[in-house]
Amino acid sequence: MKEKRFALALDQGTTSTRAILFDLEESVVIASHQLGHRQYFPRAGWVEHDPFEILGNARRCLVAVCQQAEQKGIKPADIACLGLTNQRETVVAWDRRTGEPLHPAIVWQDTRTREHCAALAAANDTAASVSGGVGSISASTSTSGSGKSRQLHQSRSVGRSKRHRRELGTEPQQAFDRFRELTGLPISTYFSGTKYRWLIENVPAVQKGVEDGTVLLGTIDSWLAYHLTEERVHVTDVTNASRSLLMELRTQHWSNELLDIFGVPREALPVIRSSAERYGTLTSTESALDGQVPLAGILGDQHAAMLGQACLRADDVKCTYGTGCFVMLHTGERPIPSRHGLLTVPAYQLGRDQPVQYALEGSVAIAGAGLQWLQEQLGVIRDIQEAEKLASSVSDTGDVYLVPAFNGLFAPRWRPDARGVLVGMTQFTNRAHIARAMLEQVCFQTTEVLEAALADLGQSTAAIQMLRVDGGMTANQLLLQLQADLLGVPVVRPQIAEATALGAAAAAALATGLLDRVDQVRKLWREELVLTPGIDDAERARRHRRWNDAVERSLGWVSV
Ligand code: G3P
Repeated sequence: MKEKRFALALDQGTTSTRAILFDLEESVVIASHQLGHRQYFPRAGWVEHDPFEILGNARRCLVAVCQQAEQKGIKPADIACLGLTNQRETVVAWDRRTGEPLHPAIVWQDTRTREHCAALAAANDTAASVSGGVGSISASTSTSGSGKSRQLHQSRSVGRSKRHRRELGTEPQQAFDRFRELTGLPISTYFSGTKYRWLIENVPAVQKGVEDGTVLLGTIDSWLAYHLTEERVHVTDVTNASRSLLMELRTQHWSNELLDIFGVPREALPVIRSSAERYGTLTSTESALDGQVPLAGILGDQHAAMLGQACLRADDVKCTYGTGCFVMLHTGERPIPSRHGLLTVPAYQLGRDQPVQYALEGSVAIAGAGLQWLQEQLGVIRDIQEAEKLASSVSDTGDVYLVPAFNGLFAPRWRPDARGVLVGMTQFTNRAHIARAMLEQVCFQTTEVLEAALADLGQSTAAIQMLRVDGGMTANQLLLQLQADLLGVPVVRPQIAEATALGAAAAAALATGLLDRVDQVRKLWREELVLTPGIDDAERARRHRRWNDAVERSLGWVSV
């Protein structure tokens, strides 16, 4: 047994911050503390956080966990390391002299840079050499093994006809793929690059800070690392940097070409490091630690979940079900360009000298948020927990399909013109059918994202052994059964449901020698619940056809 065997994780998410102390020897949670923070919506489409509130919560969570640990006889000196994981793409600008933020954090969901994104895409005609067109959506059916996927791709290509685009007044999707070859990402308000630009253009203090070299820009990992370390390091890791549209995917360096195009000064950005190394030492005064604990892991939250789910090899795949849900498929040491609307990202890089592992990622916008909508807007359920009981009270949806395209459809369809539909209702339909249809839609969409990832690899679902699941919504066992049914692959929930925090702790443990080898992470991961598909292929195909029909009815509802 190692002298120090405890690893801390700080998981800074979109709505809350959590610190968890793990005993990695026993693979158990020792202590945990969580605090929520306010969401600010100053204008339609704008979402902001208070960087100091987040920092204060991070410190309070660390203190609370250390206090809980002490009550169990564990002293700060027994803690080997801290791993930090975070909501990605949310940006902060601060003054390097005072550490004061110069503006509220602009959150990843914020769409204030839409015009900038459209302008970047419109400039695409002259920039074909940057993109090479890799990753654009094509009408090709040749990479898909399944009829279901073929149908999906055909419907997308129809939706993207030139005539249709003119009617919608949007830039062709291909134009948004201008930087895909270089970065693995389409141009989108989602990523941090245009948010940095917005801050520079619109906040005088940031503009001035750029001129006199006193401003620092970074995502939440950088913001916290700066404030929580004695050395005030200004760092990020490859996974967080990869979400900026400014990092070259293959070299993991900031791209001079993209920094120029976006107008972001390199000097203000953090240094890009691997996901597992010693970045600095945590301050003792504010975090109740003893001034000896190294910050030794940094990963974006979905990447940390990949590691926490022991997705260590090509074809390992996880889905984290939260407000939305995020699917990530490990593709090995080679970045695979997506031709089916997904993102090519580093899964993680576990040490400076270690190769970057890559993944394909796609997200579903409405997962838990759909249940929240049923509760708060429609009153269909009293609380989120009721959803499972209610949906289980009927054996199927009664042929009702719900497509919650509240803000359009994201990966892999990318249809901003879609809006929500509920189809197939009769007088027989009741709230239980609707609740069940809401759970099913999460599973249909997750399946589509996963099929798109597999299509990028020229494979079908037969290539994957299981889908590893985590996140708050996985407490809902019916959801997991429906997922197994509609995917046709076993769904496995691990004992430690906090895969994101576990991944961050594991990265830090690898960097500090608490874990010797990456494959030891596999031992931290233990199956708790396995759900196998309960319907046959014909029934699965029939339900996917009905789902596709429902989706077709949601398309083109608004002009964008
Ligand atoms: O890309 C955004 C994602 O990292 C946020 O995750 O769990 O904080 O909603 P979460």
